[in-house]
Amino acid sequence: MQKTAAAYSTLMILSLIFFIGCVSEKSEEKKGLKDFSSFPIGGAVEIRQVLQDTALEAIILENFTSITATSDMKMYAIAPEEGNYKWDRADSLVAFSQRNDLRLFGHTLVWHSGTPRWVFQKGTEDSLWLDDFLKTYIQDYVGRYKGKVAAWDVVNEGFDTQGGEYRKTLWYNKLGKEYIANAFRYAHEADPEADLFYNDFNLERDTAKLNGVLKMIEELKADDVPITGLGVQMHLRMDIPDSLIRESVRKMAATGLKIHFSELDIIFNTHDDTRGGGEQLYSSVTPKMLEQQAQKYEMVAKIYKEEVPVSQQFGITFWDFTDRDTWINPFFDLKDWPTIYDEKLEPKPAYFGFRKGLSE
Ligand code: XIL
Repeated sequence: MQKTAAAYSTLMILSLIFFIGCVSEKSEEKKGLKDFSSFPIGGAVEIRQVLQDTALEAIILENFTSITATSDMKMYAIAPEEGNYKWDRADSLVAFSQRNDLRLFGHTLVWHSGTPRWVFQKGTEDSLWLDDFLKTYIQDYVGRYKGKVAAWDVVNEGFDTQGGEYRKTLWYNKLGKEYIANAFRYAHEADPEADLFYNDFNLERDTAKLNGVLKMIEELKADDVPITGLGVQMHLRMDIPDSLIRESVRKMAATGLKIHFSELDIIFNTHDDTRGGGEQLYSSVTPKMLEQQAQKYEMVAKIYKEEVPVSQQFGITFWDFTDRDTWINPFFDLKDWPTIYDEKLEPKPAYFGFRKGLSE
């Protein structure tokens, strides 16, 4: 009788241990990237899609502490026609971010590709009007979301695709390089608490471009322009050397600004940085390629942690986070696999590589 009771208690204890084991394994499974990171991790989203797609929403809530709109907050979306702002999607992003306790990042106030046609036409004819519009637009917009949008890409892609010269956009041609300093000043007046970023691409690989941007930052700081952050888009290719990326990030961090890896993805194929300019080098992806991509993602997380001082770690944002939705394919007319989730929304080796880089 005693023997049976002892066996029974042992069985109970073993079952309990097994049960606890399962539960903790479950909660381990439930952990997302954000649980492995000491800085914000974000994703770019299109709000109408997120509100309709529960699987996508689940990925966001599991992994991210920050979101950026892929296009819903660009000038052509907010000011599609003269005299009319269209706030509905930005309002919806604010509501979603507040409901789910996510940081909302504002992308972007001034960008040549985001400028609507009517602004281009009117601004080309009248510089005074353009300067006035820049101020009114930024102050209406940033003012409306004061305290709700944590930070802004104030100017996006203000430098030429290659080399270290200012991009000759409508803004530059009509207002001179001062449009950049002014945009920062207007934004700061509207929300003194918001972090204000300059954002651009290829800075991790094009040293001449990086040097141009670093020089601009020095000048802006010398003029007391309220810039607090530098965004590097990090649309990477597998063949960009890790040592070059590391060296570039070290230089960015030396500005003392907050550093945002603002649009991370890693492609296998290549392109010439123009719409439709993709070159298909690989027609399919192999397990070996996925493993190499995982190592690259791991390295990106490590470089960020090792080269950016903690107080400057604004975060890492993925630009689309599923191979189903990636902008790379339609934009460059390619078939590529640049993100951390596959086409069926399953985490790829890249996901686990990045997670490893965050946790080590
Ligand atoms: C892209 C969006 O992802 C696409 O959906 C859109 O068609 C074009 O713009 N750099 C940027 C982003 O700063 O705004 C771009 O987003 C990708 C490149």
